[in-house]
Amino acid sequence: MSQVIVVIGAQWGDEGKGKIVDLLAERFDVVARYQGGHNAGHSVQVGDRSFVLHLLPSGIIHQGKTCVLGNGMVIEPKAFFEEADRLAAQGIVVTPERVLVSSRAHLILPYHRALDHTSEERLGNEKVGTTLRGIGPAYEDKAGRRGIRVADALVPEVLRARIERNLEDANRVIEAYRGQPLKADEVFDQVAPLAERLAPFIADTMHYLNRAATDGRSILIEGAQATLLDVDHGTYPFVTSSSTIAGGASIGTGLAPHRITGVLGIVRTYTTRVGEGPFPTEMLEGEAELGQLIRERGREYGASTGRPRRCGWFDAFATRYAAELNGFNSVALTKLDVLDALDEIKVCTGYKLDGRTLDTFPAVAAELRRIEPIYETLPGWQTSTVGTTDINDLPPSARAYVAFLSRAIGVEIGLISTGPERDQTIIIRDSALGSWLNN
Ligand code: IMP
Repeated sequence: MSQVIVVIGAQWGDEGKGKIVDLLAERFDVVARYQGGHNAGHSVQVGDRSFVLHLLPSGIIHQGKTCVLGNGMVIEPKAFFEEADRLAAQGIVVTPERVLVSSRAHLILPYHRALDHTSEERLGNEKVGTTLRGIGPAYEDKAGRRGIRVADALVPEVLRARIERNLEDANRVIEAYRGQPLKADEVFDQVAPLAERLAPFIADTMHYLNRAATDGRSILIEGAQATLLDVDHGTYPFVTSSSTIAGGASIGTGLAPHRITGVLGIVRTYTTRVGEGPFPTEMLEGEAELGQLIRERGREYGASTGRPRRCGWFDAFATRYAAELNGFNSVALTKLDVLDALDEIKVCTGYKLDGRTLDTFPAVAAELRRIEPIYETLPGWQTSTVGTTDINDLPPSARAYVAFLSRAIGVEIGLISTGPERDQTIIIRDSALGSWLNN
């Protein structure tokens, strides 16, 4: 049976998925994305070259791989070509022979970006802290049945008519918030040539992927954002507007659910979050300096927006929730080396609300804001683990920390990342992840 593995961040994103997908991609024939757009930011370090990807799957760095942008994605065509051009300058070719864009994916148009601004302004103190890339408004149009899909944009009359119709409403909102209304002709003139340039990349990716699976080709499905940003199961309303979880992979690619053979969670040894929203284990007040130390050591600044990420302790309660929701078969634990400097490390093993210990992850953001985390404190190792490739070479306290996390989330750890480079990695050969790497 062909291997179809979904890779998804277990926390609020930026778990270091780029490196892991890059490592796995070598062993897979096809790499696909199923949701989100250029709000994502995956960094991949290969030797002294650094690649930042927003829209394209990380598999693009491997020349022989086919990359798919699935129907569940929202695609800003200008961003697509800017990324393609940036990669070309780094020697990576993005051609229709190896990049397929779903005809059913939705387009992000200039008014979506403008609406992202007005929507945040309207929310005031309750704002989400979005990436302001127009992601939410594009998904709103999709659900509202007025979106413009990639294939629609190829028919000039359809494109023009939809832009005109959608702008009537969009401009009303933009003007109400003292924004600059957009002109339909200008939007059309901007988008139509890009759609034409996109034409050779457009395909029925559902059919392509199911056929690839039938033919025994292996497929890596790459999530963006992460579990706790899922529109249904995340910390609503402080979420992104798509289904980020493993279940979303079937919808967002059209691959039948039974085709998926495994789910890998990406878990970082601490937690971060960008934008607003509840974050129970955030390092605040007394721990702000520690948060700053982790931010610097882990280079925790947004790859898409440059925003400093909020840092916090590992949240095993939230990660257990993510493991149940996605059905992780294995976990890749990233950024172990970032904790090298710490003398003590806290892990949140449970949540208390109003003095009561919770059994399940709260559905209400306001409750999440009032959570008192239950912490266990583990000893640090204060030795460099950078570049370690054998688990037996880790200091005993680091090994104990990893084993503790695995027990606390109830999933095996199949890989430990000890630095940004491909070879700064410990692979546990007799794990599910180890077997996927050997496939
Ligand atoms: P949007 O996806 O731009 O609508 O933003 C919604 C929320 O998701 C905000 O809190 C963003 O900071 C967060 N977000 C979006 N993309 C990413 C990502 O790739 N990593 C981490 N957070 C993200």
